[in-house]
Amino acid sequence: MNKGKFYITTPIYYPSDKLHIGHTYCTVATDAIARYKRMCGYDVMFLTGTDEHGQKIEEKAIAAGKSPKDFLDGIVEGEKGVLDLWKLMNISNDRFIRTTDDYHCKAVQRIFRKMYDKGDIYKGAYKGMYCTPCESFWTESQLKDGKCPDCGREVHYAEEEAYFFRLSKYAKPVQELLESGTFLEPASRVNEMINNFIKPGLEDLCVSRTSFKWGIPVDFDPGHVVYVWVDALFNYCTALGFLNDGYPDSDYEKYWPADVHIVGKEIVRFHSIIWPAMLMSMEMPLPKKVYGHGWLVIDGGKMSKSKGNVVDPYLLADMFGVDALRFFLLRTFPFGSDGNFSNELLISTINTDLANDLGNLVSRTTAMVEKYFGGELSSERRPDALDDELISMIEGTAAKYEAQMDKFQLHLALEEVFRLIQRANKYIDETAPWVLAKNEEDRPRLASVLYNLLEALRVSLTMLRPFIPESCDKALAQIGASDLATWENAGKYGVLPLTVTVHKGETLFPRIDAAKALEELERRKSAPAAAPKFPPVLPDVSIDDFAKCDMRVCKVISCEAVKKSSKLLKFILDDGSGTPRQILSGIHAFYEPEQLVGKTVVAILNLPARKMMGQDSCGMLISAVHEHDGKEELHLLMLDDSVPAGFRLC
Ligand code: MSP
Repeated sequence: MNKGKFYITTPIYYPSDKLHIGHTYCTVATDAIARYKRMCGYDVMFLTGTDEHGQKIEEKAIAAGKSPKDFLDGIVEGEKGVLDLWKLMNISNDRFIRTTDDYHCKAVQRIFRKMYDKGDIYKGAYKGMYCTPCESFWTESQLKDGKCPDCGREVHYAEEEAYFFRLSKYAKPVQELLESGTFLEPASRVNEMINNFIKPGLEDLCVSRTSFKWGIPVDFDPGHVVYVWVDALFNYCTALGFLNDGYPDSDYEKYWPADVHIVGKEIVRFHSIIWPAMLMSMEMPLPKKVYGHGWLVIDGGKMSKSKGNVVDPYLLADMFGVDALRFFLLRTFPFGSDGNFSNELLISTINTDLANDLGNLVSRTTAMVEKYFGGELSSERRPDALDDELISMIEGTAAKYEAQMDKFQLHLALEEVFRLIQRANKYIDETAPWVLAKNEEDRPRLASVLYNLLEALRVSLTMLRPFIPESCDKALAQIGASDLATWENAGKYGVLPLTVTVHKGETLFPRIDAAKALEELERRKSAPAAAPKFPPVLPDVSIDDFAKCDMRVCKVISCEAVKKSSKLLKFILDDGSGTPRQILSGIHAFYEPEQLVGKTVVAILNLPARKMMGQDSCGMLISAVHEHDGKEELHLLMLDDSVPAGFRLC
């Protein structure tokens, strides 16, 4: 039964680092909704991807000694990268977009030009207090004690040419949209947006940058790159072929507008204000809904690398299983609010819900059908009033589950299923099948009891399947219901054949010994990463010999690739002497020239000049080099930009 289309998206994540449990939470939730909608008969398009431009990515790549694209390829496509993580977590996305994909970049250029031609993007000047080392503009209110809030240094007034989007023009329609009802959920986020952003007055938005290069160039003004959020938000349309040849236009016609964008609460502002305003400017239909989910926090605070409390989904999936992790994330935390993550909670949820309630119901039921009927139920039946409540729950849970799922209240939908599972477990105690089994004339009654349990399981597993697909498929096979686990059957009683065949299988969710598991987690977390091989230390040199090396701080004035050379970059440096110095360096495999302009590097100046590809090289840049698995890694030594040119290293 085709119910029409359903287009659902996650945010596209920044691959500046490995993704963590927070990203996994959002993607798993979106996956459960997508799977549920497919089960209900929708033609689902589920999109996720990576947001790959911007200064932060550029800086991370430089720090890793790689070109941005190589750096990104490693995090997205490399071992234990983003794609691997989604495969491991059994994510059923239909598409994956990288904003460095050519089709996307071309489409964004077209979109930018369209808004410019319409007059909604105009050239102006970005004015404000500027921190030179951080290359950032700040408003007066963002400054800390009059200084840069990031590095604490002096700032000065500056103006920079930039493009602006007329966000202010759309303030009224956006406010109306927010107030219109169901565009933004949970409802509490609507007031937040109106009070914090719309009421104080929406200012036009700066949508181009000239201070770094790693972005999509504005094609009619190449010194500018498109602001990363304009680039990123349009991914939801470009991945459907909008203004590009990457996918057929018919996908855009069919799936746009999105039925829901699932996003974290911190980016609701971009999705519920800036995004609809830009779509209005483009005269495109608006998404039907933006849902802002809460955060997973640790001890009430944000996960962060510096606190060392970032939770690794690979480690947890490996220790506890993919389905157990998926289940825990969606069962425990109300989707719209923040939730406090802890390993203790993870283990107790697995033990209580999966090992005890669900696991026991599956294993006890299948074991009894095997033991008392050799695996195949006989067809005689003897119903009893004791069955009524369970049967009415078998018939009635799907509607309650559906109501919660359609509001994205995933934890409450699961709550409904577990009510049924707990009721079924209680039914075993009430009916005491082991007593019925002792008496031949109670066999019809025993068959009724076991049949009712199997039906409760069939319905429960059908509804759990979007959450824990692999385990449900195994359990459905055990109870002979693989082909019957459809949504049409989820609210019905009496679907399994009377003489259903059952076979007991492996334990789906073994009980976890909490103390041992916590200890093992700690051990694995603190296991050191494989250290690079340490080459032997070279023979001693005298301090006088060392002092003969004239190593100086230099600023990169310009940098370009040397023609016909795949390796060489030509640097013009300010070494503090007042005369520019030319050095050639074979590091093009690790850096693009534009990454290095303006950087503060170190060079040894008193090496004899030599010719490379016919050009003079007067000195050598200092890098940290390491060879690992036959591959060279190189990091150009860079200093804080506050160190002046000409300072000597000693
Ligand atoms: N690239 C932007 C999004 C662009 S969408 C057009 C971005 N990326 S991100 O890598 O920072 O990912 C943010 C999203 O990851 C959040 O909105 C949220 O969905 C998820 N989470 C990241 N950390 C999280 C938690 N600690 N808890 C829950 N979800 C979190 O913003």
